[in-house]
Amino acid sequence: MLIRISVLGLATFVLLLSAIERPATAGASQESGGVVTFYKDVLPILQKNCQSCHRPGQIGPMSLLSYKEARPWTKAIKTAVVTKKMPPWFADPRYGHFNNDRSLKPAEIETLVAWADSGAVEGNPKDAPVPIRWPADGWQIQPDVFVDLPPYSVPARGVKEWEQLAIPSPFLEDTWVTSVEVLPGQPAVVHHFCFNFEKHKPTTDYNVYEWMEVPRDEDGVSKDRVRGVDTKEGIVIRREVGSTEETRRPGQQTIRGGNQFCYLPGLPYEDYRPVNAGVFVPAGSDIVMSLHYTPNGAAVIDRTRIGFTVAKVPPAKRFVPQDGEEGENAPVVRRHAIRELAIPPYESNYLGPAAEITFLKDLELVWFRPHAHMRATSVQYKLTYPDGREEIVLNVPRYDFNWQLTYRTSLKIPKGSRMHVEFRYDNSANNKYNPNPGKWVYYGDQSWEEMGTPNIGFLVDRGTDEDFKNRR
Ligand code: HEC
Repeated sequence: MLIRISVLGLATFVLLLSAIERPATAGASQESGGVVTFYKDVLPILQKNCQSCHRPGQIGPMSLLSYKEARPWTKAIKTAVVTKKMPPWFADPRYGHFNNDRSLKPAEIETLVAWADSGAVEGNPKDAPVPIRWPADGWQIQPDVFVDLPPYSVPARGVKEWEQLAIPSPFLEDTWVTSVEVLPGQPAVVHHFCFNFEKHKPTTDYNVYEWMEVPRDEDGVSKDRVRGVDTKEGIVIRREVGSTEETRRPGQQTIRGGNQFCYLPGLPYEDYRPVNAGVFVPAGSDIVMSLHYTPNGAAVIDRTRIGFTVAKVPPAKRFVPQDGEEGENAPVVRRHAIRELAIPPYESNYLGPAAEITFLKDLELVWFRPHAHMRATSVQYKLTYPDGREEIVLNVPRYDFNWQLTYRTSLKIPKGSRMHVEFRYDNSANNKYNPNPGKWVYYGDQSWEEMGTPNIGFLVDRGTDEDFKNRR
């Protein structure tokens, strides 16, 4: 069996991050005339805002756990926080309220600057906060259950299309999953890794990668503006896990991974424990994945893992993933002519086709995860309440493809509200990420083609949840 499944104990897991919330100490120490020191003033900030990425095994290029490790980076830390490059956070502070807002408060920036400017004093280790006990093996959550995916050889070069893969889920009984983390083996080449839980279908073969052939020009741009994943008919290519042999046949794909859960660069994990919610996974479901690797010059073998925490008692609320494009989820309908996106060469401020989402039920919106590619520059979500009142609920004035962030919130949306979402794009040479300003840019899977997906996730009350009752 290629999929190794390990069920660890169901020990109650206390969310570590909540235990380390502490008020900024900066102002106090400066007022008291004390010297700004690493242990007393700086380390609490690093713990709260930086160490989730800056510790061994995570995406940050250096560890900021100890004085010894942080000391050589003093100047770089000052620059990074003053320019707001770090920590990565792009929501306009004038709109919305986000419970995972990791941006630094002005007093915290002042503390880091004062520390750097006054000789990076170490101070007394006795002043240090209790070290955070980070989960082992690189996880952010401490999974109760995890799945090891089969090793995947990513070539040094070439274009990989979106591939689909199905495996049995590790849950043999009905289960409420309360958090999910995808831990990529080789983060540098994983562009996305998304999956849905799905009822097993007789046509679903396990452990076979499946993708559509997409004819591309010499720049890798899809020739017929037909997107691989959405192509209804075409050449389907299949390859068994562990084999290099590919079979081709005309027709349709037999499986299609959704994006109920996703790994994207900068997006660490989904966690519904703080909001007492979960995802119901019926016994014997499949995990159907969509994988997208982006070769970056060196051949590597990726070994991605998926970890889950599970609830012993059903949580009060059910998480409903982002809306399907054709309104597959009953509570919302999304209209979005995104395939009409066509950005002229050198156009510096192109407004993409807007998405219109209608809410058919009272909902609690718990996250936004706007997704676009290299030419995207901004995104804005505007909500119109049934009484006509308008509110900007998320504004990202500086969209950065390299940071696919989730903005977590708690926004009560009454039935009958509408959301309008706009992405803007810069196809000029001023956009430093633009691979080629001289080209028309259309909708497509690859990062040099464009997207503009207004992903959202929400909660419904389990007690009044008709869809859930009908499904059981
Ligand atoms: C979400 C993960 C994440 C968080 C949180 C984060 N960083 Fe980073 N940091 C990175 C990554 C990845 C890089 C390298 C890529 C880049 O520079 O964008 C980086 C780069 C840096 C650099 C530049 C290193 C160099 O080569 O010059 C500094 C300095 C830095 N971070 C400091 C911080 C500080 C201070 C905090 C907290 C206030 C912080 N980071 C929070 C992920 C993170």
